Amino acid sequence: MEEIKRHLKILKELGFDEIFLEGEFMNQEDILKEKLNQLKQIETEIKQCTKCDLYKNRIQPVLGEGNPNAVLMFVGEAPGADEDKQGRPFVGRAGKLLTKLIEQAGHKREEFYIANVNKCRPPGNRTPTLEEQEACFPFLERQIEIINPKVLCLLGAAAARAFLGRNVAITKERGQKIIWKDRILILTYHPAYVLRNPNAEPTLFEDIKMAIETAYEN
Ligand code: URA
Repeated sequence: MEEIKRHLKILKELGFDEIFLEGEFMNQEDILKEKLNQLKQIETEIKQCTKCDLYKNRIQPVLGEGNPNAVLMFVGEAPGADEDKQGRPFVGRAGKLLTKLIEQAGHKREEFYIANVNKCRPPGNRTPTLEEQEACFPFLERQIEIINPKVLCLLGAAAARAFLGRNVAITKERGQKIIWKDRILILTYHPAYVLRNPNAEPTLFEDIKMAIETAYEN
């Protein structure tokens, strides 16, 4: 990796701004445009999706938002009432806590990508069933492929279950790094749990800080 970086630096100093890759010129702008197109395509598909019953009661699906080149992606459970109304992830009370802790760690929410396992709000904010998670997970997998983050910070046991395919005791398993398909998963509490249990806020903060540091370290 270091050697490739050195070569790229030399090429840049020689005045090369683009590299010929697999028969096509791809500069950063083209890559970003392509990523945005692909994300838009997923959004079109989730608006029409009937793979589970959650579409029947929601106002609108919530794709996710943030930096399409993010090194870190936060993944929650499913939209709540505020998200369902606004069409954006983590904008209610739990989202405000998440945003506050990211800022407390010296970063901005917009640096990262924020999404959920399920794109439609479950009635009464119940936890999505395993079948509902399985129906929606391929959309999230495509988002992950497009954005290509190094680290995924999973907020709460439901998100962790969707990735690990088993029930997760979040209190026992939080704060560890788990390798998943060449990426690093960091499990932590859901911010909504922390709103109900304020003593857990320093732990959620430590996990978020670790996720950010891990994502940015070389
Ligand atoms: N809870 C979640 O899991 N996701 C949101 O977007 C909001 C609340």
